[in-house]
Amino acid sequence: MEERLYVERKNNTRECIDWDNFGFGLRPTDFMYVMKCTLGGEWGKGKLQPFGNLEISPAAAVLNYGQGLFEGLKAYRTEDERILLFRPEENAMRLIAGADRMSMPSLPVDSFLHAVEQAVLANKRWIPPPGKGSLYIRPLLIGTGGVLGLNPAPEYTFVIYVSPVGCYFKGGLAPIDLEVESFYHRAAPGGTGGVKTIGNYAPVLKTQLKAKGKGFSDVLYLDAVENKYVEEVSSCNIFMVKDNVISTPELKGTILPGITRKSIVELAGSCGYEVFERPVDVEELLAADEVFCTGTAVVVNPVGSITYESRRIKYNGGEVGEVAKELYEALTNIQMGRAEDKMGWIVEL
Ligand code: COI
Repeated sequence: MEERLYVERKNNTRECIDWDNFGFGLRPTDFMYVMKCTLGGEWGKGKLQPFGNLEISPAAAVLNYGQGLFEGLKAYRTEDERILLFRPEENAMRLIAGADRMSMPSLPVDSFLHAVEQAVLANKRWIPPPGKGSLYIRPLLIGTGGVLGLNPAPEYTFVIYVSPVGCYFKGGLAPIDLEVESFYHRAAPGGTGGVKTIGNYAPVLKTQLKAKGKGFSDVLYLDAVENKYVEEVSSCNIFMVKDNVISTPELKGTILPGITRKSIVELAGSCGYEVFERPVDVEELLAADEVFCTGTAVVVNPVGSITYESRRIKYNGGEVGEVAKELYEALTNIQMGRAEDKMGWIVEL
């Protein structure tokens, strides 16, 4: 265990990692995986290279017109030193769907899985000890070829970099406080809210920073048409529980099809809950018994309060709700190899 607490840097210094107290931030690791493709052409041979800057044209389509997608998944180290990935083929398929929407060449599922495996194994020493966090894997598919007129890029780059991470929100799994945003919207029908394109994320920063300035953890968005149906939080999906029935906003093109969201829907069903994917009115959410968020980065995170206009509703007296707790345990036990993977979700490296 000792050698995992100290990580040697390239300049021969040793960094001591305090695995008990590190949050969700970028911690550069040793290698990244890079693969290139021309528009309509074949993907070249991917390779591992030292983690570092990419050299791209200032005219790159990703820089000028936002032609880019990203993914997020995690690798866990188990007590018996196995390395587990959670549903990586789901990320591969979501990237293919996103590439179609963003007019980019997609990457075959097998190539995606191979690249993830290479990136994780090359950075194996950065996977936190069991129970102390995970290795967050960030695949990017970006238009790196230069364009001036508005056209798809003539060249694309697929990159995977990784970073060890702990809990996403400050305070670990403590319930978070959300503010409902009713002026700005995250996505509109017919737009790109349902794909993981880079352009969906910078616009939420303004409202997120404003909310954080008021002491909230994040922002909850409403639909852009009626401004009353719950969509998602800036960084994760949302669920509510009322009378032991679980509901989450249905996917209709404006909500990110989260892999944790999908897994929780399936897992809750197998735990005996009734689960509905349907429109959720913000008023219903305020009247819920329990609310929680899901995402690769946030995992399952209870919501302690929601503030909508001048109303602040608290859930579970500030404690973690029973359903969120049960589903968090059920999910993370599978992800960390502590429970039998009856769903066939785990890929062992
Ligand atoms: C993830 O959960 O993997 C995401 O991509 C959310 C991101 C804002 C950290």
